[in-house]
Amino acid sequence: MKISASILAANPLYLGDSIKELENEGVDFIHVDIMDGHYVNNLTFGVDTVKSLCRMTNIPVEVHLELSNPEDHIENFANAGASIITVMLDTCANPIRVLEKIRKLNIKSGLSISPHVSVDAVKYLENYIDYLLLLSVEPGFGGQKFQTSVYSKIKDAKKIIGNRIPIEIDGGVNTDNISKLVKAGADIFVIGTGLYNNGNLKDNLKRFNDIMKKADID
Ligand code: DX5
Ligand code: ZN
Repeated sequence: MKISASILAANPLYLGDSIKELENEGVDFIHVDIMDGHYVNNLTFGVDTVKSLCRMTNIPVEVHLELSNPEDHIENFANAGASIITVMLDTCANPIRVLEKIRKLNIKSGLSISPHVSVDAVKYLENYIDYLLLLSVEPGFGGQKFQTSVYSKIKDAKKIIGNRIPIEIDGGVNTDNISKLVKAGADIFVIGTGLYNNGNLKDNLKRFNDIMKKADID
């Protein structure tokens, strides 16, 4: 099980410091939400920020494209140094073409599914994806309430992909629900607010890691 830190919850004026702290604490991935003010009503990071970020760290960076027409942006984020590019299923008119485009650039491909979207299509897309990201909040903002419908969605996804593709859970992950998510079979936890709230990243991360380990043993 791995933790991916969502920097949407970090103070953008101290992003560099925050990355160094994530390195010291040993998080597995850095998760960067890219929003366009069109698919979702929020604007976040651009290509230049991702480029600087990838230059400063060896932690693999996952770019989560929460925007319209993802295929128009894949090459730019690949050149910026992303290790994983994840697209929203409901933004892809032709998901196979989009996912193939990511892989052709030697980047891992992620497919992200909104709470209202079924995982059924994964049956047909399995061969094109390296990571399956299940959103447990509506896309667009950090700090939202966790949607419990994701538990049954993990089960549905497992029926299709077994243990072949790692499942990421993104949105509202906290110290109350992570144990149940581990037991449900999720592999990677994208955490923003839960890591950055009260400003003590180190303690927060330790708490998450302890709970995850215990849940895995139980
Ligand atoms: C939501 C984003 C998430 C968000 C998670 O649109 O995809 O990555 O940053 O943040 P928290 O952990 O605050 O829900
Ligand atoms: Zn995200």
